[in-house]
Amino acid sequence: MGVIVVKVSGEVFDMSKTSPDSRITDVARQLVDIAEEGRRLVAVTGGGKMARLYIELGRKLGASEAELDEVGIEVTRLNARLLITSLSGIAHPVVPRTLDDVLLAHTTSRIVVTGGFQPGHSTNAVAALIAEGLKADLLINATDVDGIYDKDPKLYRDAKKYSVVRVQDLENMILSYESYAGTYELMDITALKIVARSKIPTIITKYTNILDATRGEDVGTKVI
Ligand code: UTP
Repeated sequence: MGVIVVKVSGEVFDMSKTSPDSRITDVARQLVDIAEEGRRLVAVTGGGKMARLYIELGRKLGASEAELDEVGIEVTRLNARLLITSLSGIAHPVVPRTLDDVLLAHTTSRIVVTGGFQPGHSTNAVAALIAEGLKADLLINATDVDGIYDKDPKLYRDAKKYSVVRVQDLENMILSYESYAGTYELMDITALKIVARSKIPTIITKYTNILDATRGEDVGTKVI
């Protein structure tokens, strides 16, 4: 029975936007459908805007980057709790805090939902590590846009989506970002290295397309 790891963008849980409850419920419904189709699942929740707001506040209070990462991790764990709640009963009830905890929880056959692990990377790296640890068939990075574009699709209407992107090209895009707490976008370099070394099939897509991605439909961008 194949394992799928889904990184759920913190955007889904963003309370400054309307109806976070229906976004969370929609993701939960897709995860239930995937489980009912016979796949084993681990979901990793991001921190999104709420994490960035907490990090911003902590930075004003003089926290170090590592401390700010810990603040971000706590927000990802809060989001994991919310997703566990909306998966009523079919998810492992506790948020694992390490890779070992995830591997152990996975033996229960329930959907496992986790957040961040440790400072210095993002929940994308966590998801990649878990996918590697469980020899997952598929890693889905479920974000707020349907894949990778040549420019920001929220700003440019003529932005073109790549259906496939090479790891090397993605690495070059990522290296042009700066790495501060709260700014690990798309896939951070750690996540990409893990995906590359273990050749984990990876799709970046919108969080409304998670189920379609598991069914092999033409959504998002594949990382090769
Ligand atoms: P995220 O991975 O959610 O970053 O972690 P993000 O950019 O907000 O991702 P999306 O938008 O939800 O998809 C939030 C912050 O928590 C810290 C980092 O500071 C990160 O920016 N973090 C998270 C860690 O330091 N380690 C982790 O394992 C996870």
